[in-house]
Amino acid sequence: MTISFQKIGPAGAQLLSELQKGSFQDEEQLWSAEDMATLLRGPHVLAMTISQAEQVAGYILWRHAADEAEILSIGILPDYRGRDMASQLMSEILAEAAGRDIQEIFLEVRADNRAAIGLYLKCGFTQVGQRKDYYGDAVTGKQDALVLKYSAK
Ligand SMILES: CC(C)(COP(=O)(O)OP(=O)(O)OC[C@H]1O[C@@H](n2cnc3c(N)ncnc32)[C@H](O)[C@@H]1OP(=O)(O)O)[C@@H](O)C(=O)NCCC(=O)NCCS
Repeated sequence: MTISFQKIGPAGAQLLSELQKGSFQDEEQLWSAEDMATLLRGPHVLAMTISQAEQVAGYILWRHAADEAEILSIGILPDYRGRDMASQLMSEILAEAAGRDIQEIFLEVRADNRAAIGLYLKCGFTQVGQRKDYYGDAVTGKQDALVLKYSAK
């Protein structure tokens, strides 16, 4: 089936917010459409969606400054998971980063997020740090954040 990618600007903030809501179960990681629009108006923030047969399946949001970048959020709607969608979005971003001469890409991920960690390791990221009890609270349960890095060289 045909896969396509679309760059998203501030006008797509509502769509991105809905995709994020549909992808994450964790309220902690959700941004409103207003937050998303503010973010997308910021310098060097880029977003892209992936669609299959013209149905939007997921998104990625990242930002870059000088020769570094950070993945801010990635999500694939549950019905589209396990079909290489996130891998393809990551490949698009890595190719674009290479074109912009970006040397290092960072991200944070919950230590219990097996699917995301598997994705990032597959894409060439390695763990460079761990932030204890970074996510959650005493009620929901705390979780460490792993800091991962991708190096162009
Ligand atoms: C993480 C997420 C983006 C993966 O999307 P996806 O399109 O299903 O991923 P892909 O099909 O491209 O899989 C890529 C790799 O990720 C890993 N992976 C994906 N789903 C997995 C699962 N359920 N369990 C273990 N590893 C998994 C595997 O290493 C896989 O490679 P493989 O197919 O060669 O084994 C998706 O599960 C999601 O949206 N999760 C909720 C939001 C989220 O956690 N975002 C990341 C926050 S940091």
